[in-house]
Amino acid sequence: MNQAFIVTKEHRRFTEFANAMRKEKTIGICHGAAGVGKTNSARRYANWDALEPYINEWGPRGDHDAKHYALANRSRTVFYTPEVLCRPKDLMHDIDYWQVKVGICADEHLRSLMYEPEIVRQKDVTRLVELLIIDEA
Ligand SMILES: Nc1ncnc2c1ncn2[C@@H]1O[C@H](COP(=O)(O)OP(=O)(O)O)[C@@H](O)[C@H]1O
Ligand SMILES: [Mg+2]
Repeated sequence: MNQAFIVTKEHRRFTEFANAMRKEKTIGICHGAAGVGKTNSARRYANWDALEPYINEWGPRGDHDAKHYALANRSRTVFYTPEVLCRPKDLMHDIDYWQVKVGICADEHLRSLMYEPEIVRQKDVTRLVELLIIDEA
């Protein structure tokens, strides 16, 4: 997704919908004709164009960490596109992987706001993730 993102009416509806699912801790299905922008909207919501490469690199910490931690904390969302015929075991493994990584980032952000970070470290950072978006489900 390189060209400029346009905040369309559909995107606003997607955001509203995702916020509702997140708040109510429930499941929803977003459907529509191919090309209307479901994937783009979902990736945008999850800040995935920034977080996916950051998590994939997962190298030594650097100057741009704080920005990504803040993004993860804001969206608290994992975006995932499963293989067409994936094994359930792989699916669960992958989702867990992304949830841990987004959770760690959100946790780092929260700890950066605290005075005594070691005391408040989350026991289970995956609990910080509030929404899982499965594309092409
Ligand atoms: N909000 C948007 N702003 C700009 N371009 C968009 C937007 N949403 C979709 N597009 C364009 O439309 C194409 C198809 O969108 P996509 O999200 O893949 O649709 P869907 O997942 O619903 O099939 C994208 O590659 C992009 O070029
Ligand atoms: Mg799509």
